Amino acid sequence: MHVSPFVLTLASTLAFAAPAFAAIAQSFAPPAASPESSSANYTGQTNGTITNTPLVKGKAFDRFIQIWIENTDYDTAASSPVFQNLSKEGVLFDQFYAVTHPSEPNYLAAVGGDFFGAADDSFYHIPQNVSTIVDLLEAKNVSWASYQENMPYDGFTGFNFTQNNYLSNDGNYTYYVRKHNGLIVFDSVANVSDRALRIRNFNDFANDVKADVIPQWSFITPNLVNDGHDTTIDFVGDWLNFWLLPLLQDPHFNTNRTVILLTFDETETYTINNRIYTLALGGGVPAELRGKTDSTFYTHYSALSSVEANWGLGALGRGDTNATLNNVFEFVANASGWKNNGITGDSPAIPLLNLTGTIPGPLNVALYQPFTAPNASGISPGGGPIFVAPGVNSALTATALPAPVNLTAQGKSNPWSQDPGISYANGTKVISPPSPSGSASSGQGATTNGALGMGVDGSVLVCFVVGVIAGVITVL
Ligand SMILES: *[C@@H]1O[C@H](CO)[C@@H](O)[C@H](O)[C@H]1NC(C)=O
Ligand SMILES: *[C@@H]1O[C@H](CO)[C@@H](O)[C@H](O)[C@H]1NC(C)=O
Ligand SMILES: *[C@@H]1O[C@H](CO)[C@@H](O)[C@H](O)[C@H]1NC(C)=O
Ligand SMILES: *[C@@H]1O[C@H](CO)[C@@H](O)[C@H](O)[C@H]1NC(C)=O
Ligand SMILES: *[C@@H]1O[C@H](CO)[C@@H](O)[C@H](O)[C@H]1NC(C)=O
Ligand SMILES: *[C@@H]1O[C@H](CO)[C@@H](O)[C@H](O)[C@H]1NC(C)=O
Ligand SMILES: *[C@@H]1O[C@H](CO)[C@@H](O)[C@H](O)[C@H]1NC(C)=O
Ligand SMILES: *[C@@H]1O[C@H](CO)[C@@H](O)[C@H](O)[C@H]1NC(C)=O
Ligand SMILES: *[C@@H]1O[C@H](CO)[C@@H](O)[C@H](O)[C@H]1NC(C)=O
Ligand SMILES: *[C@@H]1O[C@H](CO)[C@@H](O)[C@H](O)[C@H]1NC(C)=O
Ligand SMILES: *[C@@H]1O[C@H](CO)[C@@H](O)[C@H](O)[C@H]1NC(C)=O
Ligand SMILES: *[C@@H]1O[C@H](CO)[C@@H](O)[C@H](O)[C@H]1NC(C)=O
Repeated sequence: MHVSPFVLTLASTLAFAAPAFAAIAQSFAPPAASPESSSANYTGQTNGTITNTPLVKGKAFDRFIQIWIENTDYDTAASSPVFQNLSKEGVLFDQFYAVTHPSEPNYLAAVGGDFFGAADDSFYHIPQNVSTIVDLLEAKNVSWASYQENMPYDGFTGFNFTQNNYLSNDGNYTYYVRKHNGLIVFDSVANVSDRALRIRNFNDFANDVKADVIPQWSFITPNLVNDGHDTTIDFVGDWLNFWLLPLLQDPHFNTNRTVILLTFDETETYTINNRIYTLALGGGVPAELRGKTDSTFYTHYSALSSVEANWGLGALGRGDTNATLNNVFEFVANASGWKNNGITGDSPAIPLLNLTGTIPGPLNVALYQPFTAPNASGISPGGGPIFVAPGVNSALTATALPAPVNLTAQGKSNPWSQDPGISYANGTKVISPPSPSGSASSGQGATTNGALGMGVDGSVLVCFVVGVIAGVITVL
């Protein structure tokens, strides 16, 4: 791997207090012959087709597919011809917000209703008594899955995965990262085999779409180049034209009862509020909304509340029941009878959602507080009960919490950063005790995948990139 082809976008890194990585210039090439084709580039072998419960009718849609792209300001996405084209096929939510920075906390929020104070992208796991959308869907027999591009095998719990660089064919590249796979961070998913194995790779996706078994709820994470994390909005646009556009025409993916939410995890710029360009596509979007803009204030919690309202689910009693943050997509609210809070446009009632590090919680090492029980008095957008998982201590409410503790100052690490050592490497759950001296993720890497380490050339490149940026930022 040579350094010369890679151009650092230092300008953008310096202009914005951007998250860790600068984009490196890479050119898009399709990883597979088509979105319905399997490919060696995806690494993970296919494990047959998924088995789903019978269809459960929703009030506004019968299938909900979320696709998450990375680190892009609203205006940047709005300037992309591909996004402009796509916006004609659906409804643009132009007041849709991420809930914090950086990536991982947003992915946790979208499936768990909270980011639990997390302020970084480290290895975490969340105890089994903390519920997710999966508990709510399964309680009503609504089928679900997550598809993670370049995940090496189903239920992979490792911190990342490095494989052949299929774009340059020169050295290895880290395409898959755990921080973009929200559900696997929850032990209530990772420690339950039937659930963990529903977190599938893109060869499985190709199989499932061919077999017309895409579940009723799914969360799709493209790899670090196709999602724009390491690349640009133009690269993402090329990927969307390759992958999403044909799927929008495929009745095994998009039906007249399917809603596809295309959104971003967060803005690239930390110093502006966290507004992200978000489209609802698919045949389930009412025809009169196509090409229109809905300026209702939505957040990542709206993806939970809208699903809950659609299927009459229970609630998590976190962000999904927070009356400021949980507006239900208007066309779903209309179908389900839910009343939103009336915050629209650029209302001053929209809170700052670009805060990071200052929110106490169990995943914040400097402002540590224990996990709390769900908020039992939250109003459920779907009308069902607030879900209380087995093992919840209901006395641990938000009001009963002790003051935040700075674990770092006490020389302690975050207790939830210790890898529980769950592995599905051979298709069956195996738990290996964490290595006593190892760091949070090293035990996992060693037990599940001998190829986690970067290649020699890859390390040199990555160190060079990080080193240069860190050096320049330090100078400033
Ligand atoms: C893997 O990706 C490369 C680069 O896009 C492509 O040339 C090759 O055909 C892909 N392999 C498969 C099996 O699609
Ligand atoms: C946008 O759509 C038009 C009309 O279908 C097409 O000609 C054009 O190539 C598209 N542009 C991009 C960037 O995809
Ligand atoms: C879900 O499916 C199971 C097994 O088929 C059934 O016993 C249960 O009643 C169903 N629950 C609901 C809410 O439909
Ligand atoms: C991948 O994981 C290894 C081991 O935990 C870590 O050292 C490395 O920084 C990670 N790389 C990326 C790109 O996340
Ligand atoms: C939706 O699709 C179904 C099945 O393909 C079809 O029977 C139905 O008529 C369609 N409804 C509308 C409103 O197009
Ligand atoms: C969040 O965004 C606002 C602008 O809406 C800005 O004034 C503030 O400084 C930002 N906060 C942080 C922590 O960057
Ligand atoms: C709801 O969210 C708002 C805005 O972030 C926050 O100020 C408020 O404390 C939250 N309410 C509850 C009950 O957590
Ligand atoms: C959840 O489980 C963890 C681990 O067993 C425990 O430490 C914690 O107190 C429990 N929290 C609640 C709110 O029940
Ligand atoms: C926590 O303690 C560390 C180490 O003493 C210190 O650097 C940091 O500023 C403290 N953070 C807070 C929020 O008090
Ligand atoms: C998976 O590995 C574990 C431990 O190495 C072993 O006990 C188990 O039999 C294996 N299962 C299969 C299906 O190979
Ligand atoms: C998936 O299939 C491959 C190839 O048949 C097999 O090696 C692997 O053990 C399977 N994994 C799971 C999780 O079933
Ligand atoms: C690249 O990854 C493969 C496994 O995907 C591994 O076998 C190989 O040793 C790695 N190469 C380098 C240079 O790290």
